Amino acid sequence: MEILSDPKSARRYVIERQSTGETLAVVPTMGALHDGHLSLVEIGKEKCDRVVATIFVNPTQFAPGEDLDKYPRTLKQDLARLESLGTDAVFVPEVSSMYPDGCTTSVSPPRVAEGLEGSFRPEHFGGVCTIVLKLFQCLPCNVGVFGQKDYQQLLVIKAMVRDLNLPIEVLSGEIIRDQDGLAMSSRNRYLSAVERENALCIPKALRSLQDDVQSGVTSVEELQERLIARLEDSEAVAHAARDAAEGQPIQRGVDSLDYAVVVDSETLEPIEKLNRPAVALVAARVGQTRLIDNCTISV
Ligand code: PAF
Repeated sequence: MEILSDPKSARRYVIERQSTGETLAVVPTMGALHDGHLSLVEIGKEKCDRVVATIFVNPTQFAPGEDLDKYPRTLKQDLARLESLGTDAVFVPEVSSMYPDGCTTSVSPPRVAEGLEGSFRPEHFGGVCTIVLKLFQCLPCNVGVFGQKDYQQLLVIKAMVRDLNLPIEVLSGEIIRDQDGLAMSSRNRYLSAVERENALCIPKALRSLQDDVQSGVTSVEELQERLIARLEDSEAVAHAARDAAEGQPIQRGVDSLDYAVVVDSETLEPIEKLNRPAVALVAARVGQTRLIDNCTISV
């Protein structure tokens, strides 16, 4: 596996291979890899002749006070996992080569970046778009692969690629969950054992929402109310009493909810009825950790 550490050698790597007719997929990551990232590498391998992962903790997508400094950095283990999977190359640039002194240009994100994550993290998608475009410049690949757990990010990147005429196909990989149902995330390692138990109300609430849809509920207002009740303490308090009585570990809801919505799955705009493909999106804090999760709803 080749380790590429500067933009010039990254570009050369791609162009040399493309000149012999090979296709390349790029899997951008911030490291601290888990099986979700590795599933994206597998998608890249299936689709293209070569797959290149990138590992870069991008400072411009973190607001002051967010977890940039404590974001897990596990480069040695990441490289070992990528190599064992047959990844062809990894691009691990320095901050100074992605953001050289005096660098002031950035990408203005597309409309789908507004609202939801865009409201709670106003600078975030500008940083994501800027770094993803820069990574695609360094690695002018055929395919980019992103995870569906960051659902809005995926739509933002697809829109940016379309709007800026980038000749890159964007593919997505399904959410990979741990056995207990929690969506895999590099940030899960911040959770204590008790917090992790509490965080499970998120995948449970999304599963129950799918059951509600199966049983015929089509009012989005009703679905959202039920989703919120399952995530917030009101319902969890009742569960806690029952769990305590049954000798089960006491589970609470999330500590605070940023949003829990059911919206159009392409535009993320509000809808009233489930008469088109929709997505349920949740962002919540458990302890100090902010978690996001989602599930698509087909009708
Ligand atoms: O999803 C992530 O890990 C990051 O937002 C990305 C796409 C690698 C850009 O830094």
